[in-house]
Amino acid sequence: MTGQVAGKRIAVIGVTTLTSRAPGSQPVAHWPDPECAQLVSKAVVVAGSERLLAAAGNEIGHSQKKLFLGSGKLSLQELLDNLAETSGPICVLASGDPGFFGIVNALSDRFGREALDIRPSPSSVSLAFARLGLAWDDATVVSAHGRPLVDAVSLAASSRKVAILTSPQSPPETIGRHLASRDHTFTNAAVCSHLGSPSEKVDVTTPKELAFGTWEPLSVVILWGESSPEPRISWQGGFPAGETTRSIIGSPLDTYNFRGSMITKPEVRAVAISKLRLPRNGIVFDIGAGSGSVGIECSSFSPGISVVCVEKDPDSCARIESNAKALGLSARVKVVCSDAQKFLESSGTPDAAFVGGGGMKVLECCVSKFSQETTLAATFTSLERAELAMGLLGNMISIGVSSATPEGFKDNNLIYLAWRS
Ligand SMILES: C[S@@+](CC[C@H](N)C(=O)[O-])C[C@H]1O[C@@H](n2cnc3c(N)ncnc32)[C@H](O)[C@@H]1O
Repeated sequence: MTGQVAGKRIAVIGVTTLTSRAPGSQPVAHWPDPECAQLVSKAVVVAGSERLLAAAGNEIGHSQKKLFLGSGKLSLQELLDNLAETSGPICVLASGDPGFFGIVNALSDRFGREALDIRPSPSSVSLAFARLGLAWDDATVVSAHGRPLVDAVSLAASSRKVAILTSPQSPPETIGRHLASRDHTFTNAAVCSHLGSPSEKVDVTTPKELAFGTWEPLSVVILWGESSPEPRISWQGGFPAGETTRSIIGSPLDTYNFRGSMITKPEVRAVAISKLRLPRNGIVFDIGAGSGSVGIECSSFSPGISVVCVEKDPDSCARIESNAKALGLSARVKVVCSDAQKFLESSGTPDAAFVGGGGMKVLECCVSKFSQETTLAATFTSLERAELAMGLLGNMISIGVSSATPEGFKDNNLIYLAWRS
């Protein structure tokens, strides 16, 4: 190949390796292929983080415009707007492989993939596994960089070997703390920072120590187990099964509080949520939300689900808010402190609604207001009311969960679940 690929106006160059010519001197970019230096020097605009533009300094002349991306500099949107106004060749510098959790999606959405000449370097994830002497064809890769931490940790905990991209909002120690509340099979953890640069650091530790350390926020965290079995997919969504507070020192999970008597028990919740046939993207109401456990768990299934928890007791509303916050789900869970019927008078139509409280009138209201498109489920402790609900919704089961104890089975009260789907 010689020069810029014909017709491709935007060179997107991945840089991972930076070398220092002399101790203490500015690191210099090491290009993924020999043409890259030419692509940089011919561009009318060179864009990237301050660190990468500094490392490419030798190739950038005074007449070339530099666009700095990052905190206190241009936002991604502003950068794209600036590039759209540029005529002539453009060069965007990115870290590692720009097509891997990088800028390629944003550039191709705006300018079309045909405009892009992508020159990747090894990804930070590839380098991290290499430094640890591990293969990674069996690894899961998740990002907590600009994405919800709870999704990253959920996915990570159900894997056998995982790489997690971190960020200042979700640094390695926060990942460690969230992981502590999950079942997982990891025995080893490593924090790999500044990979490919003179200040590269690889710390091998344990998942527990990860939670208590202070680490470089922009790192790759690798978690793996010694001959660990493949973990099962957990039916639990974003929080532990128990209704009691879990105490993890220093963790936001300290604040979990699902108020014993008001929680829909995990097994009942599992069946009730399955009857709601949740959409991947849509709105779910949790009416008479109590502790918010059903609504919050629904929100943890997909980033596209927005939940409205309706609850009339202000203390319970505050508790739902703090539970959602502790789980990193507050952006997906809105709490409305209101009488359920009053709320329904002016509400829109959800894709699914769970009625945990508010009585038969509230369920009748949902049935008359929402068309068949809206799935509905409701739980009851009284058979009499459940039979009325079955008349409205069409289906009903009783759920009896007995917990095994050394003294034998401890029966919990029967719960009745009615639904229409
Ligand atoms: C937006 S992603 C970019 C990933 C990049 N495209 C790649 O292939 O490595 C940014 C995240 O990648 C990780 N990262 C990027 N460069 C790194 C490096 N040199 N050392 C360690 N982690 C790095 C950090 O987790 C950072 O938060």
